[in-house]
Amino acid sequence: MTTILQLNNSVFGDNGQSSQLADEFVAKRLEAEPNVRVIRRDLAAEPVDHLNGERFKAALTSPEERSPAQAREAALADTLIEELQAADEVVIAAPTYNFNVASTLKAWFDHVARAGTTFRYTENGPQGLLTGKTAYVFVTSGGQYAGTDLDFQKPYIQHFLGFLGIGNVHFVRAEGLAMGEQTSQAALTEAGEAMQKLAA
Ligand SMILES: Cc1cc2nc3c(=O)[nH]c(=O)nc-3n(C[C@H](O)[C@H](O)[C@H](O)COP(=O)(O)O)c2cc1C
Repeated sequence: MTTILQLNNSVFGDNGQSSQLADEFVAKRLEAEPNVRVIRRDLAAEPVDHLNGERFKAALTSPEERSPAQAREAALADTLIEELQAADEVVIAAPTYNFNVASTLKAWFDHVARAGTTFRYTENGPQGLLTGKTAYVFVTSGGQYAGTDLDFQKPYIQHFLGFLGIGNVHFVRAEGLAMGEQTSQAALTEAGEAMQKLAA
């Protein structure tokens, strides 16, 4: 059985362009392979807490040594990590908000990057511990950034996932969605086609 972890992040909910691409991709994966379990989180509708001192400390304390309060603080991050560990495929809807990923996605990143669990440092540098997974990332933006110095999204997401050991990352982008009907439609058509190819 394949497990897909899907993370949506649009403030427009299911109507968001990134949500629609990710939702359609997962629907097509389900059509192609019925034996798929989907764990779906809408991080915009139900954001995870920001990391703070208490949560960070609790997360790094081993479960048997946590106080009851720390156990409560660490429960969310533990669950998010378990979901990610269980996933064979990670589908991320990544709208561009203020030139980078949505803060809801960044908050999720902050919880799942846990030293000793999802990555570790070795004499040779960092080593990701989440191997054997594939990620599909749907990046949408009002402007156009691909291939420029202002593309903070793709390099950042790619680096973060790679840091955790997820090196097989496919990106689909729909850019220029605020640059007029013609540009927007062309970008969505192209992204839709790329999405379908990936799902096949
Ligand atoms: C709060 C907010 C901030 C945005 N910031 C940017 C930005 O910095 N650069 C950009 O190109 N588009 C920006 N946009 C446009 C979105 O990237 C665009 O609407 C995209 O379709 C969002 O994806 P979504 O429909 O899945 O939410 C912003 C939109 C919102 C709502």
